[in-house]
Amino acid sequence: MKKLGTMAKMEVKTSLLDNMIGVGDMVLLEPLTEETFINNLKKRFDHNEIYTYIGSVVISVNPYRSLPIYSPEKVEDYRNRNFYELSPHIFALSDEAYRSLRDQDKDQCILITGESGAGKTEASKLVMSYVAAVCGKGAEVNQVKEQLLQSNPVLEAFGNAKTVRNDNSSRFGKYMDIEFDFKGDPLGGVISNYLLEKSRVVKQPRGERNFHVFYQLLSGASEELLEKLKLERDFSRYNYLSLDSAKVNGVDDAANFRTVRNAMQIVGFMDHEAEAVLEVVAAVLKLGNIEFKPESRVNGLDESKIKDKNELKEICELTAIDQSVLERAFSFRTVEAKQEKVSTTLNVAQAYYARDALAKNLYSRLFSWLVNRINESIKAQTKVRKKVMGVLDIYGFEIFEDNSFEQFIINYCNEKLQQIFIELTLKEEQEEYIREDIEWTHIDYFNNAIICDLIENNTNGILAMLDEECLRPGTVTDDTFLEKLNQVCATHQHFESRMSRCSRFLNDTTLPHSCFRIQHYAGKVLYQVEGFVDKNNDLLYRDLSQAMWKAGHTLIKSLFPEGNPAKINLKRPPTAGSQFKASVATLMRNLQTKNPNYIRCIKPNDKKAAHIFSEALVCHQIRYLGLLENVRVRRAGYAFRQAYEPCLERYKMLCKQTWPHWRGPARAGVEVLFNELEIPVEEYSFGRSKIFIRNPRTLFKLEDLRKQRLEDLATLIQKIYRGWKCRTHFLLMRRSQIVVAAWFRRFAQRKRYQQTKRSALVIQSYIRGWKARKILRELKHQKRCEEAATTIAAYWHGTQVRREYRKFFRANAGKKIYEFTIQRIVQKYFLEMKSKMPSLSPIDKNWPSRPYLFLDSTHKELKRIFHLWRCKKYRDQFTDQRKLIYEEKLEASELFKDKKALYPSSVGQPFQGAYLEISKNPKYKKLKDAIEEKIIIAEVVNKINRANGKSTSRIFLLTNNNLLLADQKSGQIKSEVPLVDVTKVSMSSQNDGFFAIHLKEGSEAASKGDFLFSSDHLIEMATKLYRTTLSQTRQKLNIEISDEFLVQFRQDKVCVKFIQGNQKNGSVPTCKRKNNRLLEVAVP
Ligand SMILES: Nc1ncnc2c1ncn2[C@@H]1O[C@H](COP(=O)(O)OP(=O)(O)OP(=O)(O)O)[C@@H](O)[C@H]1O
Ligand SMILES: [Mg+2]
Repeated sequence: MKKLGTMAKMEVKTSLLDNMIGVGDMVLLEPLTEETFINNLKKRFDHNEIYTYIGSVVISVNPYRSLPIYSPEKVEDYRNRNFYELSPHIFALSDEAYRSLRDQDKDQCILITGESGAGKTEASKLVMSYVAAVCGKGAEVNQVKEQLLQSNPVLEAFGNAKTVRNDNSSRFGKYMDIEFDFKGDPLGGVISNYLLEKSRVVKQPRGERNFHVFYQLLSGASEELLEKLKLERDFSRYNYLSLDSAKVNGVDDAANFRTVRNAMQIVGFMDHEAEAVLEVVAAVLKLGNIEFKPESRVNGLDESKIKDKNELKEICELTAIDQSVLERAFSFRTVEAKQEKVSTTLNVAQAYYARDALAKNLYSRLFSWLVNRINESIKAQTKVRKKVMGVLDIYGFEIFEDNSFEQFIINYCNEKLQQIFIELTLKEEQEEYIREDIEWTHIDYFNNAIICDLIENNTNGILAMLDEECLRPGTVTDDTFLEKLNQVCATHQHFESRMSRCSRFLNDTTLPHSCFRIQHYAGKVLYQVEGFVDKNNDLLYRDLSQAMWKAGHTLIKSLFPEGNPAKINLKRPPTAGSQFKASVATLMRNLQTKNPNYIRCIKPNDKKAAHIFSEALVCHQIRYLGLLENVRVRRAGYAFRQAYEPCLERYKMLCKQTWPHWRGPARAGVEVLFNELEIPVEEYSFGRSKIFIRNPRTLFKLEDLRKQRLEDLATLIQKIYRGWKCRTHFLLMRRSQIVVAAWFRRFAQRKRYQQTKRSALVIQSYIRGWKARKILRELKHQKRCEEAATTIAAYWHGTQVRREYRKFFRANAGKKIYEFTIQRIVQKYFLEMKSKMPSLSPIDKNWPSRPYLFLDSTHKELKRIFHLWRCKKYRDQFTDQRKLIYEEKLEASELFKDKKALYPSSVGQPFQGAYLEISKNPKYKKLKDAIEEKIIIAEVVNKINRANGKSTSRIFLLTNNNLLLADQKSGQIKSEVPLVDVTKVSMSSQNDGFFAIHLKEGSEAASKGDFLFSSDHLIEMATKLYRTTLSQTRQKLNIEISDEFLVQFRQDKVCVKFIQGNQKNGSVPTCKRKNNRLLEVAVP
């Protein structure tokens, strides 16, 4: 309990109890009376709170002005919120219905009831727009939504009209199934329409209009469209359009026309289809302008004739119907009975009836065609199982001044809806308590089943009576019908008629004779019986339907299939009443299969004005809607019930024992759960199969607890999921890290390896390069050598070859000629020289002159050779003796030439040697005997006295081994010197004959000192001495040529000096001892 208390405090923040104006939920109203109920509504209405709940039923009071409570923000506010969480709103109901459809897979229907102008159509549009806003999104879904929403303007234009009660009154019943897929995305829809009030096409009550589309077309169509449809803009031109309220305040027909055209396009009407529709509308309008005039016929029968055929012509042009066919159809009626055709003429009234019947039929069939066409566009494209939300917007309960068949039908429909409401809410609820064995106080409520029975009972219901009357042969009028009613229903407590036998109404002046009154759940309605039979019959003369079928206009042709003569059906078509009854029955069955949601619309005033709250009017509606009973039942009973299984399933997480699985029966589980939650026992009861919760707030609290628990569970799931995710992520990261690391290592290793490889390659390449360059150098060198050798060889071979072949070349001709010429010249030269040779004498200086300059050297050489040859020749003539002489001469020349001035004079003197013929002179017989050897020189020489320089003659003898000096006169040998003791001979360079013979020191001969001589044959004597010494001693005698030399005189060394002497002594040189040391020889 404590727990719930705190919860209650918390939930107040978001409860519908917050900032409540009056009471949001009538169930909470205290005290509950009609007055408090109305006051509550009024209070809320005054504060713009037009919605109020009775449990899950929404009461909507028409504000007659636009309120800012339908904005997208509001949609968001109510989206996914608990029904009781926010202030009452139609969106809350829509959300509840949509979510229960989407999440609990329950088909829904939204039943909108209320009288005309209470706001049903608006409510249905609000529901649709809310569902469209919250359901799935996406291009395809949006298109479906848009088509569903845009079907409204089209159907409203053709099916709504201004009435005294409502400027946009729905003149047809509409039930729309919106289909969803399992996700809650809309797939499409199906619209069912119920009985259009077609009488409005031809006649409108005062202050009301025809269907909107006529006014919209005339106001909004372009000039050319009007021209095409052969229409004029002026409403007054058309009999079918009432003039007194042609314009509706605040309604722009022209703009609405554009909206409708646009909506048709969105829904999927082709241009030609839309045009055809408008053509039919135009034809209907123009039909009203066809007028008839009576024409009497000879046979007394009344006949009608079309006053102005122009309109008919235009209609026929518009619909492509043969004018004569249509004209005939307006004049005759053909009845076929028993294979017989009987044609009767139509009087004016019948002609008008036929015209109006055609107009009504044409229009109502067009309307049905439109619904079908829209259905074709919006139907779900898939065959999958669909979830359905039905929205029922049917015409509201109507009480007019003149109520006819239409009102009867409309009110019957409302009666049925009330019935289903009662069945599903009040009755069902109470019955359920009984069924479930729940303690409960019965609440009285008015069950309108009896009224429904009055109308629809198959045997004696009003509709059955009407059908019976229509089918009855004989004269049938509305009066006979009323009579019949009076007979059959007179005792029915909800049927009132003056003509009934029941006396209680006999004096009721409010009840005219041709009327009957029904006490509907919503009040008494007086119906004029006039027209009931006709309208129920809904007859269109066959001639007209056949004329229509013959139309060239395909749409019109398709609207009248029964006009096809091939398909002629003599069976009567079902009456309007039975058709409607059947379709209502189908609708009811359909609604019963769905989860109902109620919107009960209340009209606050009759003036269509904002801010006016007519308590009387509202009170009336509250009464007939049974709202008070509704609240009572809710309050007396339990606000909420649910089977144990789904309840346990829904709330099991709130209790440890039931979460996550409850093993026992569901009921026990719910008991445990509720005990655990400490819900006060008076708040709930256990039924046979369901748990009943008294107060919505308890449920709300349960929901809140559940929500909170779900959040906790979500957190738990999140926690586990996050843990799992993190772990998975971590594992993934770890795996990834290993992969990354492996890859990285591989990469790094590879990089290192590649670097190493690159380095190795670089080093290798350097080494290889270096080696290669070395080899290259060597090879180059080798190659160069080879090339050089080759070049040399080539040159050499070239040279060789050239040389070899030069002769074969003309280029060498010059040289050849030159050589030849030279040869010739040389030849000639030599031949000439032969003849010009000088004498063979070696001393002949003559030599022929040189003939050519280039032969200069040759010439000289030749001259030299010739001279040598000449000399040789000359020498070859010599004897041995003479040869010897020349040898000596030669020797002399070698020794003295150019050294001794005396030499040239000696050249011409032949060397005789033995100038003294000792052997022949007796005086020297003794001398001769003393000398055994051969005498080489025997000559008289002057021996220079060493002391004074005076000379004494002495015979100078040279033998092979000795040198001998003898006295000239006696021949006595004075001195004898072996040649080996002679060391040197000295002489001057001048032209004198002095010479000294130096002796070997210490030898015997040298005791007196060296000898100094003068001789005319000095050159011969020195030469012979030299030669003899050489041949005897094998030593070259030293011959010193100098103008000053030393001579050994005994112990003294005397210098002999040669000077250029004076001319005193003639040409004879004089020798004079100057001092001890000097002996001067003056040479001339
Ligand atoms: N929620 C609302 N907000 C503003 N105006 C509203 C609202 N509901 C109804 N109306 C006004 O009331 C008029 C009548 O409403 P609506 O056409 O929905 O009535 P109805 O119940 O469908 O009547 P009928 O049975 O004749 O078709 C609307 O044209 C609109 O002007
Ligand atoms: Mg409506």
